Amino acid sequence: MVGPESLESGPLLYLPLLTIRVSAYFHLYLYRQPITTGYFYTYPLSEADVASIAFIFNGEGNLLLNCTTLNVVAWISFCLPKEMAMLGLDYKDRVLALKKEKNAIILAHNYQLPEVQDVADFVGDSLALSKNAATTDADTIVFCGVHFMAETASIICPDKRILIPDLEAGCSLASTINSHELESWKKEHPDAIVVSYVNTTADVKALSDYCCTSSNAVKVVNSIPEGREILFLPDMFLGAYVAEVTKRKNMYIWPGECHVHAGIKSEDINRMLATLKNADFMVHPECSCTSSTLYHASKGDFERQAFVLSTEGMMKHARSSRAKQFVVATETGILYRMRKENPDREFIPIKNDAVCKYMKRINLEKVHNSLVNDVYEVKVPAQVADKAKLAIDRMLAII
Ligand code: 13P
Ligand code: SF4
Repeated sequence: MVGPESLESGPLLYLPLLTIRVSAYFHLYLYRQPITTGYFYTYPLSEADVASIAFIFNGEGNLLLNCTTLNVVAWISFCLPKEMAMLGLDYKDRVLALKKEKNAIILAHNYQLPEVQDVADFVGDSLALSKNAATTDADTIVFCGVHFMAETASIICPDKRILIPDLEAGCSLASTINSHELESWKKEHPDAIVVSYVNTTADVKALSDYCCTSSNAVKVVNSIPEGREILFLPDMFLGAYVAEVTKRKNMYIWPGECHVHAGIKSEDINRMLATLKNADFMVHPECSCTSSTLYHASKGDFERQAFVLSTEGMMKHARSSRAKQFVVATETGILYRMRKENPDREFIPIKNDAVCKYMKRINLEKVHNSLVNDVYEVKVPAQVADKAKLAIDRMLAII
């Protein structure tokens, strides 16, 4: 539990003299002391004021009350409704209460910290989160994921307030291409259809014909007439996977990668294969080992099953497979949900250091701050949002 003394700001850490005075007078009132004759003195023992001591004397100089700040806090929580009562609760309870009060929902990506997943109304992959944003009645969506995901929600629901708890929650993959680079690439292939992975900025989406996520990329590409060239961006491993599965020969792939998944290599898969004989292997298509996994699987090299799946595809597979042991080749945050939903199964990360530092920037304290102060709003300008929405709507229509 996060104790009240660890609050970053707000009324508790530097408890103002006035609140001590108010609650001390209330104390005196309860004990029927002649408060008009009392006077008040605080002695700050520490910088944090946590150990402050309040002395109240009457007119004759007799001590009427001596209490520590913590005693006073207890009185405040007891005496004053709502805001003060909130001080006695930990961040989780406060976040849950604020959600109700503000008609807000929390959407969390599968890679988020456990403490964030636990307060979310919905946890899922990029596609499921976008769909959820599109249908919610909430006034505010606190998007616990990375910036492009919050932008997507803002494009889908322009009338809602979309908040991200930390503006630095970016994405190394989305940063591999900007709108100028895409414009030049389009000039080289003027008749091509542009398919952008959802891990892109709103500006890039606005220049795209389709968006896709890892769970519907194959279907999106299959929906495009065979004769049309495709520019697929920005993930080269996902692109190679889609080209392999769809057998498209006219697909050009941007050479972008995600720093977390590019680090999951075929050697990691092979090492695990050598030791875990009965496990199912679940591999995210952004991994650099995706192509070799597919290749070996198609040649029947694996003694057991290997599956290339989006994060939500992995969740479904974990539920439906008969295997009891699973090797998970993606960001490790998803293991929390897997273990929680399938306590009788074993989930083993392919690499313990497959951690997205951007996803992990968000924690419960920042979610709380987001709800209290309505920060940080993500709003995509209308002229960009209108164009990007066409590509996103096409993605949402292809499940
Ligand atoms: P999913 O769409 O599978 O959730 O993946 C998003 C992502 O950022 C993977 O790194
Ligand atoms: Fe981006 Fe990679 Fe993090 Fe996913 S895991 S959000 S692709 S940096």
